[in-house]
Amino acid sequence: MPNDVKPADPRVETLLARMTVEEKVGQLGMFADMVRPFAPDVNPEANVRNAGEVLEQVRAGRVGALFNGVGAVQGREIQRVAVEESRLGIPVLLAADVIHGMRTVFPIPLGEAASFEPALAERTARATAVEATAAGLHWTFAPAVDIARDQRWGRGAEGAGEDTVLGSAFAAARVRGFQGGDLRAADSLLATPKHFVAYGAVAAGMDYNYVEISEGTLHDVHLPPFKAALDAGALAVMTAFNDINGVPASANHALLTGLLREQWQFPGLVVSDYTADMELVAHGYAEDDRDATRRAFGAGMDMSMQSGFYAAHLPALVESGEVPMAALDEAVRRVLSVKAAIGLFDDPYRSLDPARESDTSHLAAHEALARDAARRSIVLLRNEGGVLPLRRDARIALVGPFARDTDNIEGCWTLFGDRSRYVALEAGLRAALPAGATASLEVVDGCSMEEAIDGGIEAAVAAARRAEVVVLALGEPQRYSGEAQSRTRITLPPVQQALAEAVAATGTPLVVLLRNGRALALEGAVRDAAAILVTWFLGSQTGHAVADVLFGDYSPSGRLPVSFPHDSGQQPFFYNHPRTGRPETPDMSEFKARWREYPNTALYPFGHGLGYAPVEYGPTVVSAPVIAPDGVLEAWATVSNRGTRAVEEVVQLYVHDRVGSRVRPVRELKDFRKIVMQPGESREVRFHLQAAQLAFTRADGRFGVEPGRFDAWVAPSATAGTPAGFTLA
Ligand code: NOJ
Repeated sequence: MPNDVKPADPRVETLLARMTVEEKVGQLGMFADMVRPFAPDVNPEANVRNAGEVLEQVRAGRVGALFNGVGAVQGREIQRVAVEESRLGIPVLLAADVIHGMRTVFPIPLGEAASFEPALAERTARATAVEATAAGLHWTFAPAVDIARDQRWGRGAEGAGEDTVLGSAFAAARVRGFQGGDLRAADSLLATPKHFVAYGAVAAGMDYNYVEISEGTLHDVHLPPFKAALDAGALAVMTAFNDINGVPASANHALLTGLLREQWQFPGLVVSDYTADMELVAHGYAEDDRDATRRAFGAGMDMSMQSGFYAAHLPALVESGEVPMAALDEAVRRVLSVKAAIGLFDDPYRSLDPARESDTSHLAAHEALARDAARRSIVLLRNEGGVLPLRRDARIALVGPFARDTDNIEGCWTLFGDRSRYVALEAGLRAALPAGATASLEVVDGCSMEEAIDGGIEAAVAAARRAEVVVLALGEPQRYSGEAQSRTRITLPPVQQALAEAVAATGTPLVVLLRNGRALALEGAVRDAAAILVTWFLGSQTGHAVADVLFGDYSPSGRLPVSFPHDSGQQPFFYNHPRTGRPETPDMSEFKARWREYPNTALYPFGHGLGYAPVEYGPTVVSAPVIAPDGVLEAWATVSNRGTRAVEEVVQLYVHDRVGSRVRPVRELKDFRKIVMQPGESREVRFHLQAAQLAFTRADGRFGVEPGRFDAWVAPSATAGTPAGFTLA
């Protein structure tokens, strides 16, 4: 049953009764795994120990979990020391940041969200879990379920974009995929929705910054993906670095205890982010290290990552009575119960099988899945004059710093990818061309990611002149997104823009391939290119997946999970913003909510994306003019494929609440469905809308519906479609 670690394992209470305070506190500490091949470059040093010391701590019963090391052989040795050489023989949890693939790398989560296929994310998470557990892991710090409404924030790459309904669907799917049907299975990977909470709402999109947020936005926008992940059975939650209206998330009693434990009845464990308890001092929320420990633990944080603060200060806090023994026992009980739930007391060597590790080192099925996931994540923004798909016999110039690159394929937070199998764009395109035709593909870098190269632009221009079409591979270096990677301008590096302008001036049609970890503000020749494909960071199979789309073996079916603005200065820009009192009108009159330079719109809205056939939508129809407060309404539109090839269409249901006790968003996604449409096919696509889906945090502070008038759209994006009105009684 999801979310259930009961019936309580009797071994937990037996152990608890035998534990010293030091051993109890030991279970609440997680440390960098310096024993196994380790990924140290992702976290700053904090009380880092050496391998010998780590094993000594395990032997002394002072370690509950280790993280970011891998390998089944050494993992067995760590576990052997825990089980055979520590006094109580409690196994350790072995954890890591396995975010979008282990050996086989899948698209970054934001990219995969563009598929609008949660079932796909469930499959890639399952494959990830199979590989991660084979490498000796029990636990991943994923999925990131932060809603990212500001594209300057680099960690939007790790989540599912700006929308709560889409984000919740992906959060739940990823948890199901990681954990599988049976938590005790050797290939089940414990999931950790993070970062609790509102981490995506940091001011100015600057990572780690403060968060000022209304109760309504917190509850209606940022919390639902966590609830969805927990309802899907996640047994761990990671706290966020940021404060929320002045109270750090990692010491937030109202959220960690009041909401998570008491209201939501979360039975699993709460782990800090890396040294988040220590950081309470830098926040100015705790006097000193001891006070930070007291506040974090007291708020409901069970396990402390890397600071060593719990080990250093909890015993004295218990001794003084500032932390009751019962509270310590409760936290230890949760950690031990999670260990019991995943079967570690029955088989501490679960997921530590070197034979399975070598059998799983390369799985063809996972590679095929990575290719399919990658091509399903690609979004075609524009395709003027049907320049795509490309003819295989066309003279193609592949230009740009990403053309042959394999260092910027995996995207942020890939610690253990098998780099030897990464497929660059050039390799993918060549593999898709008939053997004799390879001469028709000319490849030129033009510039490096951020700098000019001697004669680069001239060579690119010459190649463009010889070609019938230029495929221009541009984008953000991969280190522009991920943790601590915030940008003020979400544009391409200037040297790449200069390359695009020079190549465009040849007049040869341009197909732009964007590689990106966030929505970008497109400018000049890039914005005006004949075709634009958003390819995010697609992972191991990048080259093949892009070739599948370029040559039309796959009709693109991705849709934007984030709005592409006209300009960086519009951030935070998201489609479901509250209405203003002076909405922009087409006549652009002066005193309206718009910018001097740009309208208050997206260049490409949330939900937008094209395939290789035109799809038309009829007006939205609703089944009844009135819906009861506990009722259901049907909403539909006739959707028609007017082209000559089959496509996949993402049909989206949006709603707008015309009058509310709090100002309501201009539109909100309520549901979506990806369907295959044959050439010439017309179909009524129907959604059931429950009245409960119209609920929000009202002015009285309660979550519920309000009677009144609504509009519904069945549409291909957040700004398209013809609405139908209805009334909630
Ligand atoms: C800090 C990051 O915020 C978090 O997402 C990650 O899981 C931890 N470091 C552990 O590496």
